[in-house]
Amino acid sequence: MASTAISTHLPPIAAPARDEAGKALQATLVELIDLGLLGKQLHWSIVGHLFMPLHLQLDELVDSWRELSDTVAERAVAIGVWPDGQAAAVAAGGGAAALDPGAIDDVGVVRELEGRLANVTEHIRTRMDRLGELDLASQDVLIETVRELEKQLWMVRAQLTEDGGH
Ligand SMILES: [Fe+2]
Repeated sequence: MASTAISTHLPPIAAPARDEAGKALQATLVELIDLGLLGKQLHWSIVGHLFMPLHLQLDELVDSWRELSDTVAERAVAIGVWPDGQAAAVAAGGGAAALDPGAIDDVGVVRELEGRLANVTEHIRTRMDRLGELDLASQDVLIETVRELEKQLWMVRAQLTEDGGH
């Protein structure tokens, strides 16, 4: 009976839509966590004249990605799908390749950040579109996420000149 009591408190989303929306939220959660780990790795790896502004910018980005991942995970719980944000789930999510530990020059950091952020944003935008047919409230969470990531992408790209260098 306990499960009936719990299920009656869930949003009225049909089971197949709930499952698919939950998978979209889970996939987004692990990508945002992976991005946060990458952001810290870059934060520690920068060398060059732009060390300080990039070092600080990366911490702001990591904070934002952690907040967004929390919102995404909590939406999953709210629709009755348990999220998994542990290291094993993130690794199984098939995220981007690990960086080799070591120094990365400042422009290289911006390029790496731009590429990774662009990929994740594109994946989440695809899920956002699909969620419009499944659950608008979950879609709203991904709309907020995409809006923030695309703003960040603009700001990161603005740091690269047209030829991609200084
Ligand atoms: Fe730090």
